[in-house]
Amino acid sequence: MLLRVLGSAAGGGSPQWNCGCPVCAAVRSGAGPPRTQSSVAVSADGRRWFLLNASPDVRAQIEEFPALRPHDGRTTPLEAVLVTDAELDHTLGLLLLREARALRLYATPAVHKVLWDGTGVLRTLERYCPVEWRAVLPGADLALADGLSCRAFDVPTTKRARFGARADHGRVVGYRLTDERGGGTLVYLPGVQALTRALRREIEGCGCLLVDGTCWRDDELLRLGLAGKTSREMGHLPMDGPDGSLALLSPLGVGRVVFLHMNNTNPVLLDGTPERRTVEEYGMEVAMDGLEVRV
Ligand code: MLT
Ligand code: MN
Ligand code: ZN
Repeated sequence: MLLRVLGSAAGGGSPQWNCGCPVCAAVRSGAGPPRTQSSVAVSADGRRWFLLNASPDVRAQIEEFPALRPHDGRTTPLEAVLVTDAELDHTLGLLLLREARALRLYATPAVHKVLWDGTGVLRTLERYCPVEWRAVLPGADLALADGLSCRAFDVPTTKRARFGARADHGRVVGYRLTDERGGGTLVYLPGVQALTRALRREIEGCGCLLVDGTCWRDDELLRLGLAGKTSREMGHLPMDGPDGSLALLSPLGVGRVVFLHMNNTNPVLLDGTPERRTVEEYGMEVAMDGLEVRV
């Protein structure tokens, strides 16, 4: 299985348009590469591709990646989009794909409902192009294409739902993708609040984990005076600390741990910071846009 990180930053990207925090300022002055909003492309063999979330930067992300460009006429290697939740940074890109002849979308019923009745992204999109919705049910295997299969699992969160969807079941999911032919396994978990025992079981032993790296510290945004909430309160497990993701993921025997969905304030975005070095000492990685991995 092949994967490409199309975008590695959280909602807003890095730098974020209205942010002058030290990390955004450093990125503007060249201390680290800018990053677009989080999305990943996966394929069994490099021919047919699936998007894991569709970011508001999807148009430029596709242009940057030759394997996703159209062959001729209007045929493209993009087979379908799988979404983990209904957040705008993961779904606004659907509207930018509206020129498609048809779009296949994998989403849970709870996410589908929010995209329809809440944000209205799907209701609007369907005025432009037919959407073929495939219901994702956590725990059930789905065949994608070319021996690639996937299974969603629930990701519990107390993050406030902005739109409807009181039901927690299926509001946020992660995906475990398996290449039945090559044997590779990938877990995609761009938003995780707590690594519960059930989640750790999904992750254990996978070849590659793409995981939430939103904040370095739990109080990162509070200290900077940029928000009134901790990272956890916003639904994101911080990386640092004895109960942070670095420490908790370390014993799980994952082949390659790659952090993505970094918020613009996270010092791991900059090359050579102590925080970045700590990630490297754990044998883990911080994704950049364009990172490609063979799993
Ligand atoms: C989040 O995951 O909390 C987001 O990136 C916030 C957003 O998209 O506005
Ligand atoms: Mn987000
Ligand atoms: Zn910033």
